[in-house]
Amino acid sequence: MFRLRKVFLYVVPIFWASAVLLFAADKGIPQNEVELGRKLFFDPILSKNRSLSCAGCHIPNRAFSDTMPLSRGFDGGLTLRNTPGLVSASSRTLMFWDGRAENLEAQVIHPLTHPVEMGMNAADMEKRLRNDPAYKAAFRHIYRAVPSVALLSKAIAAYERSLEWYDAPFDRFMFGDTNAMSPAAQRGRDLFIGKAGCFDCHFSPDFTADEYRNIGLFNGKNWNDSGRIRISGKPEDLGSFRVPGLRNLSLTAPYMHNGAFPTLEAVVAYYNKPDDHVPDAINRDALIKPNLNLKAEEQADLVAFLKALTSSHFNP
Ligand code: HEC
Ligand code: HEC
Repeated sequence: MFRLRKVFLYVVPIFWASAVLLFAADKGIPQNEVELGRKLFFDPILSKNRSLSCAGCHIPNRAFSDTMPLSRGFDGGLTLRNTPGLVSASSRTLMFWDGRAENLEAQVIHPLTHPVEMGMNAADMEKRLRNDPAYKAAFRHIYRAVPSVALLSKAIAAYERSLEWYDAPFDRFMFGDTNAMSPAAQRGRDLFIGKAGCFDCHFSPDFTADEYRNIGLFNGKNWNDSGRIRISGKPEDLGSFRVPGLRNLSLTAPYMHNGAFPTLEAVVAYYNKPDDHVPDAINRDALIKPNLNLKAEEQADLVAFLKALTSSHFNP
């Protein structure tokens, strides 16, 4: 009798739990938060007409950025800004070009409910996931709860936090492999830190500063995105954007908040002589020099360095 009770108390529940798990795995039901986040990230169920997933704009083999200056939303409309890559996004303190979301969890609701991007509302989103047997099972298994936007955001953020690779030629170079970066990239690094002044704003392991700066891409006319000021209301933020990280740049063209520069050569040419591009810039940062006087070879070296910041994960 005692034996039998033991079987029911321990063996049967364990057997049952394993059977449920095996069944779930077999049906492709996510087993943990990151897997659930990945499934959601790639699922067009998140957009109003079920046509577009997060990955539709954040393309995985482009380091989760888009190839176009502006991206197309679920209904064909254009986004207001360039889609940034998402690798190492977790190390940033504020999300978006203007820092309007305070972390990855808080960010998710923005694209979901954006009228151009995915066009959903929170209530419909929850209804959809609750009516989907696979999601219902996954949320129950992972969170012991029904699907909600808060948990969906938590899962997607967990997936985004898993997107981290520090294995670029630059990293190997810093760990002592002096051949990991070409001589051109090594000269470019010296320029980046020294004469070209890039390091004044692009520092930290990801070359971001999580600060807002105006590099001169605002004139209130054809360059008319006023950036951070819309969030902070502070006059000094007119035309400022968050200093973006510089990892995986080989994959994330075009560049800047509006995707204005198609290549890294164009970016460096801009920094070399900003007035050639936006002569009437308003509120440009004093750190951005009117003329860096970089020779053509030096500009090429700087580009070689920027390319050496791309993770080998994307170049097997
Ligand atoms: C229609 C294209 C599009 C879709 C779909 C889309 N995004 Fe984005 N994403 C953008 C654009 C554009 C920005 C930059 C907007 C800005 O800064 O004002 C952005 C910014 C972000 C950022 C901030 C990154 C940073 O460095 O600040 C994160 C994180 C992000 N998106 C995640 C997601 C997730 C998660 C989804 C799905 C729920 C999603 N995106 C769907 C276009 C898109
Ligand atoms: C005053 C601070 C500052 C300095 C100095 C600076 N940057 Fe930037 N950088 C920024 C900001 C802010 C942006 C985003 C600007 C925007 O989109 O309007 C940016 C954007 C970029 C981008 C585009 C990244 C992307 O994902 O679109 C690249 C590449 C870049 N900088 C490289 C450099 C290089 C190379 C130098 C040195 C020649 C340099 N930066 C100097 C602040 C700075």
